[in-house]
Amino acid sequence: MARDLRLTWSALQVVESAPMKLNLARAGELLATTTSDPHLIVHATNVRGCMEAFARHFGQPPEEVEHWGAVGYLHDYDYERFPEEHLEHTEAELLAEGVDAADVRAILSHGWGICNDVTPETDLEKSLFCADELSGLVWAAALMRPTGISDLEPKSVVKKFKDKKFAAGCNRDVIRKGAELVGLDLPAAIAVCIDGMKPYAAETGLLPKT
Ligand SMILES: [Fe+2]
Ligand SMILES: [Fe+2]
Repeated sequence: MARDLRLTWSALQVVESAPMKLNLARAGELLATTTSDPHLIVHATNVRGCMEAFARHFGQPPEEVEHWGAVGYLHDYDYERFPEEHLEHTEAELLAEGVDAADVRAILSHGWGICNDVTPETDLEKSLFCADELSGLVWAAALMRPTGISDLEPKSVVKKFKDKKFAAGCNRDVIRKGAELVGLDLPAAIAVCIDGMKPYAAETGLLPKT
């Protein structure tokens, strides 16, 4: 009997310390330990929304929609502390926090060709690479409209994409590469991001202004 109890206890310990697939609550807790800049929180929310929409686009079940959103929310975990060494302070810390290695790899892969050489391979990773840069352009395009993101059309964002002076910080080559990775043309990738970002308009400053 005593032996059975010991076995049960050690089995529980194994379960408790096993790496955990990210969920939104955990992603929120972890990001809160490193990040307080409101702009970075807005960006995290935008990428979360886009990732949820990409998960739906790729036919994922509801629990995976949350999972993809959580990875999106946490993707810039080390940026506020280490803007010059972005993604160099992510892997060891998140693994030590018990985040699943696949989720850590996904987060690292959004820096492909920018901060590292971790190639996006899965649909989740490719979506994160696409969402990171494209969400910035969609957000900037929606922000300047009186109606916010409520009636934003992909073609308006494409127009802004072509205007190199608009949101010049959004790298057009990276955006093009991201759309290509997820197998969509630019208007279709933009439509996914608009769809994903709409539910979070109140948190991201994109509600109609009147
Ligand atoms: Fe990043
Ligand atoms: Fe980012």
